[in-house]
Amino acid sequence: MCGIVGCFSREGCYEKLLTVLQKLEYRGYDSAGVALVAGGALAVRKKKGAVANLCGAPLAGAAGIGHTRWATHGKPSDENAHPHVAGKFALVHNGILENFAVLKEELTKNGEAFSSETDSEVIVKLIARAYKGDFFAAVAAACSRLEGSYAIAVLCEDFPEEIVCAKNKSPLLAGAGRGAAFVCSDIPALEGEVRYVCPVEDGEFVHIRGEEICFCTAGGACLPKVFCRLAEKERAPVGASGSRMEAEIGQIPHGLEKTLGWLRACDFAPAARALRGAGRIFTVACGTAHHAALAFGALLSREARIPVFCEAASEFRYGDPLIGAGDVLVAVSQSGETADTLEAARLAKARGAYLIAVTNVEQSTLARLADFPLRTLAGAEIAVAATKSYNCQLLCLYFLAAQTVFYKKAAFPAWFSALGRAAEACERAFSCFSEVFSLAKRLQTARAMSFIGRGTDRFTAAEGALKVREIAYVFAESCPAGELKHGTLALVEEGFPVLAVATDRATVQKTANSLAEAKARGAFTCLFSPYKEYAGAADFFCPLPALPAPLMPLVSVVPLQAFACRLCLLRGFDPDRPRNLAKSVTVE
Ligand code: G6P
Repeated sequence: MCGIVGCFSREGCYEKLLTVLQKLEYRGYDSAGVALVAGGALAVRKKKGAVANLCGAPLAGAAGIGHTRWATHGKPSDENAHPHVAGKFALVHNGILENFAVLKEELTKNGEAFSSETDSEVIVKLIARAYKGDFFAAVAAACSRLEGSYAIAVLCEDFPEEIVCAKNKSPLLAGAGRGAAFVCSDIPALEGEVRYVCPVEDGEFVHIRGEEICFCTAGGACLPKVFCRLAEKERAPVGASGSRMEAEIGQIPHGLEKTLGWLRACDFAPAARALRGAGRIFTVACGTAHHAALAFGALLSREARIPVFCEAASEFRYGDPLIGAGDVLVAVSQSGETADTLEAARLAKARGAYLIAVTNVEQSTLARLADFPLRTLAGAEIAVAATKSYNCQLLCLYFLAAQTVFYKKAAFPAWFSALGRAAEACERAFSCFSEVFSLAKRLQTARAMSFIGRGTDRFTAAEGALKVREIAYVFAESCPAGELKHGTLALVEEGFPVLAVATDRATVQKTANSLAEAKARGAFTCLFSPYKEYAGAADFFCPLPALPAPLMPLVSVVPLQAFACRLCLLRGFDPDRPRNLAKSVTVE
């Protein structure tokens, strides 16, 4: 989850490092640091907190490395901030070393003293001890001792124009710009800096010498690589509140339109054939993407009459799942780099399953691993809490479900053509924001709240609750509306907020009944529904634009996203950078 960057540039290396670091901050903002090498010496600047804390005159040097941290080993502090230094070397690391305790003990016995609590410092000590004048060989020798996940970038005082990098299970890519060479954890952070990128595979090394980027094996043998042109991306704007999350909610219709355009041009035959003939279908994902996968699973099993098993990726990978040859795994991940989702996908592939991936980053590790990569074109999503990527994931997955139904029954489901109206429906949902903002004001001091829904609405409820927990720091739970009286009702006292999503004509009355039961016990009830005749069924009513019921999760989540964002702002927090969380969770 940390972000690393390495840069060679004779001009403005320090500024370039800081620019990329700022864009990497969504991977962690517990601390930040840079190191550059010039005149045979390393200069390091690192600090607890955000990149903005690294103030001061630019450090000199043409080769540099940088880091934004999401703490795993050791609290956020100046000492635990990267780069870590040993002898002539400075290092930045993203990942978790699993054998660091053993290595640290060995190094301590050999007289090494540590100045941080991090696992990463072990690596730079190993490099310094292995160094006999050959920079690359020292890094390769140290890496041969490492177990766990790592992407590292290393500087050496003796080589002022070189950076050596290595990767295992943590994301890393190399990028070539005008007069500049980069390595970085993420493609989006390099946008604007480089014109060509190439992902680094596990076990590979990258040796930057001046502007030259060389991919090599641990033995130093050069690996031929093809760099791809990086598409020009629109810059992520900020909303009226100054937050990216608000702007990203505003970009939902645009993202849906772009995604739909891509999907319409895509040949689904191989994926749909695999799904149609699948013994079993599984989905894996984390966080928000898991909610999209759950909605897809429910829709596909109902429409195609196929059982679909949806599991959080972290459970799937350790649960000895039944998956095997002839089965299909659908893995969903905005970043395509989430460690648990990737490991679940690797496990499924190793057992012979067919892998369909839905990602928002074309060249992500998950997309490259997939037999059939599907894209969402939500555009760069910077705010930590996912919004527009979720709507686009739903669109993409529903499209996939419809194609599967077509290949199974030779006819598209009745709702298929309505996917073309999803963008417009989301845009119309914006018109209820003023009511939603007043609801946020009303609930500004609430200490807890419950979200309920039936059928696919329960996944929207779960996503609404997740958003509120993530950014507004209010304890929010969700449960199927029918389960309310089996537990949550005990929490209800005067003013306790219960927020219901009811978008299916067949069950809206049932959900209204659940709200009535809560209200009878003093709850403050809210209803999000396209059925205006139910406006009187709750203390607060939010009218939703209508789409066919199976597609409603695409639009009903929008006011909940806006509600959470406003609640967060009213409570005085930054929606883009929730405490303790990171955008891309590349460690377990
Ligand atoms: C983190 C983010 C969430 C996201 C989840 C999965 O927890 O804060 O917003 O839903 O990771 O990320 P992915 O990139 O795999 O969709």
